[in-house]
Amino acid sequence: MFKDVDYYAGDPILGLVDKFFADSNPNKVNLSIGIYYDKDSKLPVLECVKTAEQRIADPITPRPYLPMAGLLGHRLGCQNLLFGKDAPVLQQGRVATIATIGGSGALRVGAEFIHRWFPKSKCYVSDPTWGNHIAIFEGSGIEVGSYPYYDKANSRIKFDEMLEFIEKLNKHDVVLLHPCCHNPTGMDLTREQWDKVLEVIKQRELIPFMDIAYQGFGEDMDSDAYAIRKAVDMGLPVFVSNSFSKNLSLYGERVGGLSVVCPSADEAERVFGQLNFVVRSIYSSPPSHGGHVVDIVMNDDKLYQQWVGEVYGMRDRIKAMRLKLKSVLEAKLPEQNFDYITRQNGMFSFTGLNPEQIERLQSDFGVYLISNSRMCIAGLNVDNIDYVANAMVEVLKE
Ligand code: LMR
Repeated sequence: MFKDVDYYAGDPILGLVDKFFADSNPNKVNLSIGIYYDKDSKLPVLECVKTAEQRIADPITPRPYLPMAGLLGHRLGCQNLLFGKDAPVLQQGRVATIATIGGSGALRVGAEFIHRWFPKSKCYVSDPTWGNHIAIFEGSGIEVGSYPYYDKANSRIKFDEMLEFIEKLNKHDVVLLHPCCHNPTGMDLTREQWDKVLEVIKQRELIPFMDIAYQGFGEDMDSDAYAIRKAVDMGLPVFVSNSFSKNLSLYGERVGGLSVVCPSADEAERVFGQLNFVVRSIYSSPPSHGGHVVDIVMNDDKLYQQWVGEVYGMRDRIKAMRLKLKSVLEAKLPEQNFDYITRQNGMFSFTGLNPEQIERLQSDFGVYLISNSRMCIAGLNVDNIDYVANAMVEVLKE
């Protein structure tokens, strides 16, 4: 009956994590998946999350179904974080926000909505992008193309080509953008460049879909949302998918949100209803535990401040690792340029290593990078950084 079902080749990121765990090399280092590990290579449980979980556990309460859109406090938490607490667009009731099953769930619900109401729209993602962006939009029946973004040979953004490409798109085509900490390159647009891209989007009446999974890991919570807020100020309709996986270190709880900025409160109400309908037809309503954690942390001033401090702690440790990696590599290979490491933001560095070098890092040293050359800097610490740098030197010097 199932003999014609194709084998699944596996996911390039999640499959590599499985391979890493199966590797018996005692020195192995996992720099593949976008997960923040602390200075001791441990997945942190944030202090603000511990407090929230204690509140949830004492007393233990019943677990009814949540509303299709999730908890109100979760939804408001997303809105305040993305648009700013007193943003006029929120006061005007122009944002339809639902809690989602991680950032991936937000992307999928958004894509399903777009395919239903804008069936002719195509979606354009950056070249390169997070691989799952393509699978999620194609899975919703949307044709996916890509716009030029990164020049691997020169470690720079191909800004002129990007702009030129977007200028040719059709009305209501979707442009998927990473407001901060671009995955996989770590190279973000400057504010000036964002302004230009958004101007073209406005003129061409395109739909910007901003996927923000690393808010707080770039500059700070507000600066990282620059592109989103600028698009709102320009009066654009905007889709925003956000994830709390990384910044709340709640990967397995699958907590995120989808917000759609609309021209009027009436349209926001319609969109909100249709987003609920999409949710109902896929998974009915989101799970409650992670939603309660988000609700508590985002809506308690003290816990919120504590959370921001904890995120900045993670951000600063990653930045310190970038500096250290760059200086070790520069000392050992002075003829090569490693400036790109500190020009990139967030968890990732696009190293530009070729497939043979990546394969050698894995087989000879147990150092795991994604096959597109992306390294998760958040997996480095003072105990493994010299080992990783030396391994890189070995494969680079040949
Ligand atoms: C990544 O890019 O490594 C993360 O977003 C995790 C994932 O699901 O791929």
